[in-house]
Amino acid sequence: MSIKNLFVIGAGFMGMGIAQNAITSGIHVTVYDITEDSLIKGRKTVENMLQKNVKKGKMTEASMQDAVSRLNTTTVISDCKDADFIIEAAPENEGLKISIMEEIDKYAKADAIISSNTSSISITTLASHLKNPSRFVGMHFFSPVPLLNLLEVVKGLQTSKQTIEETLSFGEQLGKVCILSKDEPGFIVNRMLIPMLNEAFFLIERGVGSIEEIDLGMRLGLNHPMGPLELVDMIGLDVELAVMEVLYSEIGDPKYRPAVLLRRMVAAGHLGRKTGRGFYIYHEDGTRTPNLDLL
Ligand SMILES: NC(=O)c1ccc[n+]([C@@H]2O[C@H](COP(=O)([O-])OP(=O)(O)OC[C@H]3O[C@@H](n4cnc5c(N)ncnc54)[C@H](O)[C@@H]3O)[C@@H](O)[C@H]2O)c1
Repeated sequence: MSIKNLFVIGAGFMGMGIAQNAITSGIHVTVYDITEDSLIKGRKTVENMLQKNVKKGKMTEASMQDAVSRLNTTTVISDCKDADFIIEAAPENEGLKISIMEEIDKYAKADAIISSNTSSISITTLASHLKNPSRFVGMHFFSPVPLLNLLEVVKGLQTSKQTIEETLSFGEQLGKVCILSKDEPGFIVNRMLIPMLNEAFFLIERGVGSIEEIDLGMRLGLNHPMGPLELVDMIGLDVELAVMEVLYSEIGDPKYRPAVLLRRMVAAGHLGRKTGRGFYIYHEDGTRTPNLDLL
């Protein structure tokens, strides 16, 4: 079954990335957010990204206009009623996601698949708040969504085989390579990534290396395209802390316990690129310098 109408919940970094990916794959997308401001900002981001692709010769002006014409936005959640597929990409907070599920369940078509892009919250738990948990699945995208080809499809205890098959096929429609994960904390990728990022924070706390040295170490030593500190700045330190808290509380192993430095940076509002300051300071001219206050 080919998906025609997608409803995305949350016009943030991930929600708009998913929307951009979908509209350029020929799918009609409605993005829902609680504020009009987020939707305006989100639409502008997608238009700017596509405009850059036109300048680089990756797409034509006509195909860009065509893609943009498939993007709608709304602050009315019942607009999900025509969607074949729903992806929730609101903040990483279990209570919030549960309240969204309960709301969506009132309006979604009976045969629509409902999914969450959660990085850490149990798919089985979220599904249990729906009338039909067999139609609920985890869809964990990677940022920036239009550029990273991986999609983790997460099977909750109640997710049906048919839902998994349709989700894998939708992933292909979006041009993704899918891997299937059980509903374990952190799924496959974050289970490995989170302890590595935490170690990078500990290295800063102990003064073992500088911000740039730690990033260079992983870029050049292991051929990672980004170092851990620049990566967490892109993901958002608040998102990373929320994910670590879930992994630590569910698994209990101290390797998942968030470094104090991460907690302090989030408390200070130093969330990475989105606030202009994280492990690096992001300047208006597009350059960045290491945040020396941390050392
Ligand atoms: N940032 C990443 O790299 C990354 C990667 C994979 C998965 N995720 C997951 O994706 C989800 C979103 O993360 P993000 O980085 O896009 O966050 P974000 O903070 O950039 O965006 C969240 C958006 O949700 C909106 N929102 C808040 N409450 C809402 C509600 N009740 N209903 C609808 N929208 C609401 C906010 O206005 C905001 O626009 C999280 O679950 C996160 O764990 C993030």
